[in-house]
Amino acid sequence: MVTRKECEARDRDDELKGFRDQFLLPDEVIYLDGNSLGPLPKVAAKRIQHVLAQEWGEDLIRSWNAHGWIDLPQKVGNKIARLIGAGTDNVVCADSTSVNLFKLLAAALRIRPDRKVVLSDTANFPTDLYIAQGLIELLGGSRELRLVETASVESEINSDVAVVMLTQVDYRTGGLHDIARVTQLAHEAGALMLWDLSHSAGALPVDLLGHGVDLAVGCGYKYLNGGPGAPAYLYVAPHLQDDIRPPLSGWMGHDRPFDFDQEYRPASGIARNLCGTPAILSLSALDAALDVIGAADMNAIRKKSQDITGLFMDLINERCGVFGFDLLTPNVPEKRGSQVSMTHANSYPIMAALIENGVIGDFRSPNVMRFGFAPLFLRFVDVWDAVDRLHGIMSERAWDRDEFKVKAAVT
Ligand SMILES: Cc1ncc(COP(=O)(O)O)c(C=O)c1O
Repeated sequence: MVTRKECEARDRDDELKGFRDQFLLPDEVIYLDGNSLGPLPKVAAKRIQHVLAQEWGEDLIRSWNAHGWIDLPQKVGNKIARLIGAGTDNVVCADSTSVNLFKLLAAALRIRPDRKVVLSDTANFPTDLYIAQGLIELLGGSRELRLVETASVESEINSDVAVVMLTQVDYRTGGLHDIARVTQLAHEAGALMLWDLSHSAGALPVDLLGHGVDLAVGCGYKYLNGGPGAPAYLYVAPHLQDDIRPPLSGWMGHDRPFDFDQEYRPASGIARNLCGTPAILSLSALDAALDVIGAADMNAIRKKSQDITGLFMDLINERCGVFGFDLLTPNVPEKRGSQVSMTHANSYPIMAALIENGVIGDFRSPNVMRFGFAPLFLRFVDVWDAVDRLHGIMSERAWDRDEFKVKAAVT
């Protein structure tokens, strides 16, 4: 079994070890939830202070020009693009992932007017499915959301399908879809491919241009560390950008917003996918946060992610195997994202007890304990200590208290 001393040695050799100090992390907390809300980068805190005091406080509305506020959605989009192999001027940062999904799904259905089906899997994140359901209802029921088991997705792609809409990393299990293969199958069937990269960007290398992906969306507050409710992003492949007819035709996506024309005329390129006024405070925080991850080597992030998730799984098997946990996450490193999930009959109170003991993961209904491993700030010793604390909680049945059984509004 791996010892704590061996973990300390691995931390000394870790090429990403310098990044931890760039985050504000509370002492004693082992933060295994960077896949849900990334921690606060020190540069983001500094930037927010500056935006408040100087840009908003002193320079007021002049900052739209003087501090480039108006260009932030594209500027931040280009920083995200570097993490997902998206080239330049193919990504904008705006709105939430849900809203961006609505925009791109609606646009995709307009590009494939003769096809009925939006194909997705039952494991997709609920908001993705809800957005598709709402859009289809709005379109008068002429389209259909076809939901299949994850294992059947590839065989269900056929000439009825307008768009295949999937999340690369399963938010529950951490299992990975094969972007290259599914995108190719979609194209062979004449369908468009839309990926949700919320749990991918910043956690593993993605090559949207290389795989010929048509459309993608993702969150800014997970591995990108943009802060609670940070704006999301969307990607449109260069060859499709002029075919997009934005369903949310707001003024920020207009060709000349400050001409105040009465007719909507979409901007050329990716900018037409903007809608309303950008949230400058959040966008500024994300802009600064991206400089942290932007300085890291994505392959080193992926390698460490596979190492620490693998270490966690091994230690759970070795030290906590007797307590009745079932690991849901694929054992093969290439088949998982940067999280480990497991089930247990008492998942909720166990997670609540862990959080009380300073190990922060989360719970996903009905019985999943989920642990995210963000390689930029986590150490190998954190993984060892987290399993050690879990072992202690299980051995002493410290989770078996009424206060741990009452579910909070946000789990
Ligand atoms: C895969 C995935 N898509 C979308 C969302 C939600 O996006 P938003 O709340 O920004 O609309 C989440 C949130 O956790 C997610 O995990």
